[in-house]
Amino acid sequence: MDVRETWATRIGFILAAVGSAVGLGNIWRFPFLTGESGGAAFLVVYLALVVLVGIPVLLVEFVIGRRSNRNPIGAFTELNHSQWKIAGAVGALAGFIILSYYSVVGGWVIQYLLAGLTEGYVAGEGAEAFFAETASGTGAIAFHAVFMALVAGIVALGVRNGLEKAATVMVPSVVVLLVGLALYGSTLSGAAEAYQYYLYPDTSTLLADAVSVLPAAAGQAFFTLSLGMGVMVTYASYVGEDRNLLSDTGLIVGIDTAIAILAGLVVFPFLFTQGIAPGDGGPGSIFVSLAGAFAELPAGNLIGAVFFFMLFLAALSSAFSIFEVVVSFVIDRFDIERAPASVGLAVVIFVLGIPTALDLTYLELYDQFANNILLILGGLLMSLFIGWVYASDAREEIQKGRSASWFGGFWLTTVRYFVPPVLLITLALAVIEYYEFIQSTFF
Ligand code: TRP
Repeated sequence: MDVRETWATRIGFILAAVGSAVGLGNIWRFPFLTGESGGAAFLVVYLALVVLVGIPVLLVEFVIGRRSNRNPIGAFTELNHSQWKIAGAVGALAGFIILSYYSVVGGWVIQYLLAGLTEGYVAGEGAEAFFAETASGTGAIAFHAVFMALVAGIVALGVRNGLEKAATVMVPSVVVLLVGLALYGSTLSGAAEAYQYYLYPDTSTLLADAVSVLPAAAGQAFFTLSLGMGVMVTYASYVGEDRNLLSDTGLIVGIDTAIAILAGLVVFPFLFTQGIAPGDGGPGSIFVSLAGAFAELPAGNLIGAVFFFMLFLAALSSAFSIFEVVVSFVIDRFDIERAPASVGLAVVIFVLGIPTALDLTYLELYDQFANNILLILGGLLMSLFIGWVYASDAREEIQKGRSASWFGGFWLTTVRYFVPPVLLITLALAVIEYYEFIQSTFF
């Protein structure tokens, strides 16, 4: 691979990165985590982390990718710092774990899509009962298998690009549907209370809350932007040098964040109106609240099926990006061909996901470890590399494509002195929290 293709258009790169970023993280994970973590305080900390840490780390990944023209496995060797390959290994492990439950949730989405086309959605207690049935048991395992088979099959058949192009209608459609649902939500009786909860942080406790929600908010910022795993390294390895990485970053982060905020504006009015405390919704928040809404809307079953179809496409395009990183790692490390590596990994990831499809405790167990610990660690390693080992080359790289000249220095200073301590503190808090979680769950 001497001469590498670059994205033909700016839009190709942005679409691929947005396709990876926008997924279950925005629409499923963000609202339920916000609900569990107390609402507006979480939102504030999450937004601060997206801007202050997410943007610099996204640029770190872009710079590593464009400079090396390689995926995260080959990148550090290409840059003559092969010992930093450990960052790629951390990322691959994270992806392996994340995909195992991502696929289970993808299976729920397929079941909800089918429900809209067949028996239709029900409101109230019926919505909660339906979620309980969907989320665990043989159905959950079967549709987890379907989702994982689709991810591996589509990647193996090489039709992924075609599918991603078809999915370009996905992001605008998701936005239109979410805006419509948010407007409908604003007319409901629980709306005022919901906005109070979601949008107005209690300033007197904000600082104390900020510390307690830090690990979860950082994990979410990384998860939703597909950071810490090297996904964005790979995409940027195809970007031409004339491109301004900073403005692309702004667009990607802006779209991703807007969709998450919108998802919250949909979920909370419905939860409050249905009398469900936001912290009690858990991983079912989006499913229960939306099924309840679709049950009451005219043509709700059809709108619901369309919504879950869009969410399915969004989940699929994100899942490809995770799968690619894991497959590349295994090919590189164990010297196996692509096809057997893909099939073998799909089977192993499926098996790893089975506990989650039987008991949601495992979702939390996997998710917290992979996101709040491994992704943060991956991001920390890549930031240390760029800030302290590869700084002058990185500065030259970011300056290409007409970034304003002050920006490179500002970014590097942030990556050196601000990002690592924040990630280190976050990581320490996450490890303590994880230890306590394991203690209380299993002992
Ligand atoms: N960002 C995706 C979402 O929000 C999930 C995802 C795709 C991801 N690739 C990733 C998360 C890499 C972490 C790392 O649904």
